[in-house]
Parts: sequence; C-alpha cells; structure tokens
Amino acid sequence: MDEIKIGLVGLGTVGSSVLKMVTENSDKVQNITGRNLSIKTVVVRNVAKHQAEVPAGVTVTDDLNTIVDDPEIKIVVEVMGGVHPAKEVITALLNAKKHVVTANKDLIASAGEELAALAKQNHCDLMYEASVAGGIPILRTIVTSFAADYITEVKGIVNGTTNYILTQMQRKHWSYDQALMKAQELGFAESDPTNDVEGIDAAYKMVILSQFSYGTHIKLSNMAVEGISTIQQADVQQADAFGYTIKLLGIARRIDDGVFAEVGPVLVPQDHPLATINNENNAVMVTGQAVGETLFYGPGAGGLPTANSVLSDIVSVTKNIVLGTTGNSFNNYQSQVGKVDPRD
Ligand code: NDP
Ligand code: HSE
Repeated sequence: MDEIKIGLVGLGTVGSSVLKMVTENSDKVQNITGRNLSIKTVVVRNVAKHQAEVPAGVTVTDDLNTIVDDPEIKIVVEVMGGVHPAKEVITALLNAKKHVVTANKDLIASAGEELAALAKQNHCDLMYEASVAGGIPILRTIVTSFAADYITEVKGIVNGTTNYILTQMQRKHWSYDQALMKAQELGFAESDPTNDVEGIDAAYKMVILSQFSYGTHIKLSNMAVEGISTIQQADVQQADAFGYTIKLLGIARRIDDGVFAEVGPVLVPQDHPLATINNENNAVMVTGQAVGETLFYGPGAGGLPTANSVLSDIVSVTKNIVLGTTGNSFNNYQSQVGKVDPRD
C-alpha cells in the first residue's frame, strides 16, 4: 500500500496526542484513505526533552529544514502555537509544496486569508478544524451542513480554559488562581494563558467562525473583547444565588450593514442550554434562516479531542491527494457558502 509520511511541528499537549492517534488508529485511516500514514519527523525546541517520547524510527530535531527538504513528507501538522514563528514555518512549508494542517487560531484569525492564498498558489491544502472549539467539528459542519442556508447568528462558549475556571469557581468554590493553575496543568490553557483569560483566544475563534458563517473578515480591533480575569469568587456565587451562571460568550450576529461580534462574560439563566456546559467543554449555537437554532457541544480543549480534529483534516488532505484535488483549503469553500444573504 502507498505510504504518506507526515511531519509534526510541536510535541506538546496536542502534538503528542496527534502522534498517538496517527500511530494507534492507523488501521482505520488506512481503510478510509487507502494509504498508510505515519509520522516521520518531529520538530521541537528541546530535542533532549522529547527524544524518549517518540517510537523508534521517528526523527526528533530542532531543524525545520529536515521536514522542508524531505520530499517524502507530504503533510505537515503545525501545533507549536502563536503567530511567530508559526507564520514563517507554515509559509516555508507551503512554498515547499507541503499540505498543512494546523490548530493555530491565533495565526488563522490574523493571517488565514494570506496563507490560504499561498496554499492555493502552491496547489496545497491548508486545513484547521482544530483551531475552533477543539474537538467539535464545527468548521466542517458550517461548510457542509449550512451550505445552502443563511446563517443569522453564531454564538457560544469557545474557550475551554475559561469555562473550566468558571465551572470550578461556581461548583467547587475554587479561587480564580487555583482553577487557572489546574487548567494549565491539564493542558487546556495556552503556554501563556493571557489570551485565554482576557477573551482574546475566544475572539480569534469568533473571527474564524464569522469568516465561515458570513464570508466576512472581522478585525479583532473592531470587536469589544473582555475576559474573566477580574471575576471574583463572590461574583460567581452571587450570580448562582440569583439563578444565573457566568459564562464567557462569543457572539457574531448578522446586522443590517454587516456583522456585529463581541466576546465577554455574560449572566446566563440557569435554564438556558449554555449554562449547562461545564468544565473544558464548548458549545456553539448556529442559527440559520431555514434550519433555525442548532447547538453543537463537545470538548473544547485537551490533547485527544483536539488531535481527533487534526486527524480529520489529515484524512481530508489524504483523500484530496489520492483524488488529485488538492489546493482546497477551507477558505475556498467559505467564499462560496458564507455570503451575507443577497436577498436583504
Ligand atoms: P504546547 O505548549 O503544549 O506545545 C507546543 C509544542 O511546540 C512544544 O512541543 C514545543 O517544543 C513546540 N514549539 C514551540 N515553539 C517552537 C519553535 N519555535 N520551534 C519548534 N518547536 C516549537 O501547546 P499545545 O499543544 O497546547 O498547543 C499547540 C497548538 O494547538 C496551539 O496553536 C494551540 O492554540 C492549539 N490548540 C491547543 C489546544 C489544547 O487543548 N491545548 C486545543 C486546540 C488548539 P518544546 O516542548 O521543545 O518547547
Ligand atoms: N486554550 C484553548 C482553550 C485551547 O482553552 O480553549 C483550545 O483552543
């Protein structure tokens, strides 16, 4: 059977789970794609730290060129995070005609269109299902299942770390600092958790969701963004006593002349479905003109759930390679499905 070799940039929470899933679920992937997939090379900063974590035969290096210059490697997974040097890394990979799968919402929200254009120019795929809501397959769902409907609102809980913190503060009466520390320990938070707790990570995800839902790129600077870092234990308990749960919500709504988007803490009535979403779970409510209100729920952070989304992209890319239809990043579909309703 033909082999497809994969490069992996980053071996942290997500990268190590991607390695595990590619290794352990290879039979299923083979059945679906007709190709034998394996990780050939892993790029990290600290080679000595990671050497023992990879199976025999997998190279661990701190030199990206080991992947860029390897003609055997067709697909590369970028899970190092952050905008720089991730942008330069993905640019080099696309220019070397590698298909790229990433979980990096910071980068896709700020340079997704530019990178999608570069991917297209190089006849490569650029896929990023894992960049929004971790294990929930929300981008594919919007692209495929809302293909004919006009979305009027997309909203929900799109950051696992802050939902985990707020849940522990309410249910276990933990302090904010204690809950944040545990979220970091569990691998839900970014390496610098500022973007999580200040609402910026959720805002990046709303930028991507708006692009998919409306075909409109919203700049972060045009959004009102507030996080949860000033919320005290007393606020959470008082809200609870009045029948509310504090949730960090993102919203992007179609309005007359475009799209309105914001992120901030909201008092959600406890009988509302979003009030019941606990721990690191996320939930995205998509309202379409035809379908009405729909709700998608699942783990929004964590190694294996996120790796599952990465693997779904790897399978899509592999199918495109087999069919000779590469050059289709999500953005290509978006431009066709996400327009604001022309009837208005
Ligand atoms: P981690 O911090 O756990 O891991 C990052 C990895 O990238 C480490 O192995 C690190 O190497 C490597 N790395 C960082 N910078 C460089 C560099 N300059 N050159 C080479 N390697 C580098 O991150 P996560 O796994 O948590 O997150 C990865 C990405 O996935 C991010 O974009 C994040 O936003 C996204 N994501 C994360 C989720 C989660 O639940 N954690 C969920 C959904 C998306 P070393 O260990 O040697 O320092
Ligand atoms: N830090 C992010 C979160 C990871 O907590 O939601 C998933 O994107």
